[in-house]
Amino acid sequence: MPMEDMRAASFPKLTLPLFEDIKRVFKNETGRVFIYPSSGTGAWEAAMTNVLSPGDRVLMSRFGQFSHLWVDMAERLGFDVDVIDCEWGTGVPLDLYAERLRADKAHRIKAVFCTQNETATGVISDVAGCRAALDAANHPALLFVDGVSSIGSIDFRQEEWGVDCAVSGSQKGFMLPAGLGFLSVSKKALAAARVATHRHCYFSFEDMIRANDAGYFPYTPATQLLRGLRASLDLIAEEGLENI
Ligand SMILES: Cc1ncc(COP(=O)(O)O)c(C=O)c1O
Repeated sequence: MPMEDMRAASFPKLTLPLFEDIKRVFKNETGRVFIYPSSGTGAWEAAMTNVLSPGDRVLMSRFGQFSHLWVDMAERLGFDVDVIDCEWGTGVPLDLYAERLRADKAHRIKAVFCTQNETATGVISDVAGCRAALDAANHPALLFVDGVSSIGSIDFRQEEWGVDCAVSGSQKGFMLPAGLGFLSVSKKALAAARVATHRHCYFSFEDMIRANDAGYFPYTPATQLLRGLRASLDLIAEEGLENI
């Protein structure tokens, strides 16, 4: 493809179907997916700074390099992080999550975090188990999942598992060069973002929604990678997610 004009009248012909088709990979039926010109780390930050407020209490666990980095980001962004340290090579401690959620009668915990595949160790955590722990405690906290190295490669079901923010990136299951950060959000996360007060600018949901709804972006998108994403989504659909 020659370089193309991201303000051209024909550009939405590429982008609008992408916004719909990428939802299938996340199994997100009722929410939406933001496509940022960033890596997965940018989508981590987009999730936290749009959906949460400064000082919000969050429940996280650390058992490898990537869960460690997400905790570090949450602390540096000013959240009140309850971090459970686990031996590296293990995964999300479901029993301890369940205990913390049951004990939190005042619902101070606003979000629970799960790194689905801790790339550093290759350990897969149980996302459905996190949802079950939330439901068993009748707890309204949002569920955030890092799916950078799992979505498109390992079973992931956003709608069924009640995942509110699912993060991924172009360079793993999506088979592309690095450079796109994906954030798939539920309706509940979108509603939370409307009242959350953390500052954000580049990753603003509001700016993205306004531009994306018309098929555009608030700033220069990675047009070549969007063409690549079209090809990779077609390959995924052709082979079938279940077969992959
Ligand atoms: C599980 C996981 N989370 C987050 C990241 C960070 O993503 P990125 O390097 O695209 O910013 C990675 C990168 O490998 C990862 O594997």
